[in-house]
Amino acid sequence: MTFKKIIIDTDPGQDDAVAILLALASPENMAILGITTVAGNVPIDLTTRNARIVCELAKKSETAIYQGCDRPLAHTLVTAEHVHGKTGLDGPVLPEPTMPVQDQHAVDFIIETLRREPAGTVTLCPLGPLTNIATALQKAPDIAERIQEIVLMGGAYFEVGNITPAAEFNIYVDPEAAEIVFACGAPITVMPLDVTHKALVTQPRNDAFRALNTPVGIAVAEMTDFFERFDREKYGSDGAPLHDPCVIAYLIDPDMFSGRQINVEIETKSELTRGMTVADWWRVTDRKANALFIGDLDADRFFALLAERLGRL
Ligand code: BDR
Ligand code: CA
Repeated sequence: MTFKKIIIDTDPGQDDAVAILLALASPENMAILGITTVAGNVPIDLTTRNARIVCELAKKSETAIYQGCDRPLAHTLVTAEHVHGKTGLDGPVLPEPTMPVQDQHAVDFIIETLRREPAGTVTLCPLGPLTNIATALQKAPDIAERIQEIVLMGGAYFEVGNITPAAEFNIYVDPEAAEIVFACGAPITVMPLDVTHKALVTQPRNDAFRALNTPVGIAVAEMTDFFERFDREKYGSDGAPLHDPCVIAYLIDPDMFSGRQINVEIETKSELTRGMTVADWWRVTDRKANALFIGDLDADRFFALLAERLGRL
């Protein structure tokens, strides 16, 4: 088992919240150097608020949270209240947070951390639009070769789109940022909808969270209860997909995932397919592989890990 130093870049979001909780519950696997927030599921004030709520729920108010970009690089912000509710974290009733937000901008924190830590020792975990990461890469191109790995949730190939017929939400919100990240040369692992739609919180899995009978277990059950109504209506699926926790679970137990090392390019121009991840899954081009694109996971193992870890908080 390898130990990781990570920065979680996030737009909570119920599934982001579960990812953060999983990371906070796993100190033997990772040290969270900081949580950086970005506008995505809801505007930046709310994603920062929600990140603070989640850390306080886990009784980890010493976690350093940095607020980041409030809009995508080139387009107006698209949000997802239709999925996550008005606050982004609808479901449980949780107290307003009191823990501080750091003064430093998230982008500067990312740059400074990558320059300070030995090269190749910091993993970036983006769970939302890639605006902060791309802005850091634009401002400080030298950091690209210092990144150990970028493990991100975004994109889709077989599942195509969830916000448009062609695009997944995180990539659609800021395709220009995604293009910069996928071209940066750092090792990239992608958790697309192809895998996250297999990480479904079925009723027994939700019951297992609730049965923890802790504030965290009950809040996670209520979050996924809320979140699932959207996917049930849209896909007729058995429960809510836990997209973002796949990123953190991969750091803990990569063997429960499988995928292919392939080329992934981002469509930024077309009106119709903007934000599409053009993934060469069948290797029909000679474009150079730039990402490990995950396609499958052992869902039972994933949910067993989640219940065990959340039970610690
Ligand atoms: C992604 O979009 C957001 O709504 C979720 O938090 C996840 O990161 C799934 O498309
Ligand atoms: Ca997210």
